[in-house]
Amino acid sequence: MKFQKSPGTQDILPGVVERWQFVESKARDICSRFNFREIRTPLFESTELFQRGVGETTDIVEKEMYTFVDRGERSLTLRPEGTAGVVRSYVENKLFGDPDVSKLYYIGPMFRYERAQAGRYRQFHQFGVEAIGSVDPALDAEVIALGYSFYTEVGLKGVRVEINSVGTPAVRAAFRERLLAFLEPKREILCKDCQSRMDRNPLRVLDCKTDQAHFEGAPSILDSLDEECTAHFDKVKQCLSDMGIPFEINHRLVRGLDYYTHTAFEYKAEGIGAIDTVGGGGRYNGLVSDIGGPEQPGVGLGLGLERTILLLEHQKTELPNLHGIDVYIVALGEAADREATKLVYELRRQGIRAERDYQGRKMKAQLKSADRLGARFTAILGDDELARGEIALKDMAQGEQRIVAISALAGELK
Ligand code: HAM
Repeated sequence: MKFQKSPGTQDILPGVVERWQFVESKARDICSRFNFREIRTPLFESTELFQRGVGETTDIVEKEMYTFVDRGERSLTLRPEGTAGVVRSYVENKLFGDPDVSKLYYIGPMFRYERAQAGRYRQFHQFGVEAIGSVDPALDAEVIALGYSFYTEVGLKGVRVEINSVGTPAVRAAFRERLLAFLEPKREILCKDCQSRMDRNPLRVLDCKTDQAHFEGAPSILDSLDEECTAHFDKVKQCLSDMGIPFEINHRLVRGLDYYTHTAFEYKAEGIGAIDTVGGGGRYNGLVSDIGGPEQPGVGLGLGLERTILLLEHQKTELPNLHGIDVYIVALGEAADREATKLVYELRRQGIRAERDYQGRKMKAQLKSADRLGARFTAILGDDELARGEIALKDMAQGEQRIVAISALAGELK
């Protein structure tokens, strides 16, 4: 019997996991500067939460959820995204009682039954933020700026910000009629996907990759916005300009989740095969009340970490080497070996990253090991040195070696 990982899942091995740690530490660092605090919610929630939150006619709910019945006959679903769970937790824990805006972030796995390809997986990871409790367009702009800072600070180049307003449900209903009037005469020449979307969710038709040529002259939702929506969108654009965040307006941008109102945005970049969206988000003023909470507006984003890391690799971005050791203790002989056990433990207790040999190898093999680990120093412990209570400390970059007392080693290394 030979086991293999399930399609669309990945092992993240040492050597690659350091990239993840780097990206995640940037995310945490940025959140702390933007005053977002971490929230950890369950990996599974009741199926109904996602049906209501994400929307019955979305691809996610219609065909991508990992849903199962547990032993207590409850229908549960592995979270396909983070917003619904965070909003559920916000309501359940009455965070709306907080006089300040709830600014929350999360990093973790999400699950969607999608056709796996480069940049698209069945278990993937998102860095997401949700700011709940204010309609201020400055908050939309702040969330967009946070995502932009993330991509910039991890070292990605060429990430573009596209924004749109999808208005209120009333605005969308009116726009839907205008759009269908435009699309209906073309129905037969559009692809199967578009035809079915025309019936279920016409705004998403404009998202189609293959039929773009037929959408020339399609009405723009921006022309259908009411005064309030226009004012909100104008203010978001103004805030972004004030902060110096470059953005483009894409009136065809519609997101794949139903909860958005007003601002919708995406981060786009070339380099992951057919996929160009690396992250996205928007405002959701009706979601909190839709899932049983008070009328509280929110805005947030979700950034795909696999896509971020694929792009970093594609752009050959140099990342800091987070893994490495400070010193490798080379031990030769039985007594030295015994001393090495004690010594590495003592060094590690003092905050020094230390390693030793565990395979009784010769000096040359131990030195090679030190080299592979990128040790900054090697400390060679032979029986003679040991008898004098000394150790030979070598600076691997400089190449110089000196003899120090074993008891002084930690101090020397610091
Ligand atoms: P989303 O656009 O569905 O939004 O996902 C956000 C990001 O997650 C995508 O841009 C992509 O980078 C990544 N992603 C999605 N599906 C996959 C997949 N199958 N494989 C790899 N990466 C994937 C949301 O999930 C919203 N909850 C974002 C949000 C938060 N809106 C408001 N607050």
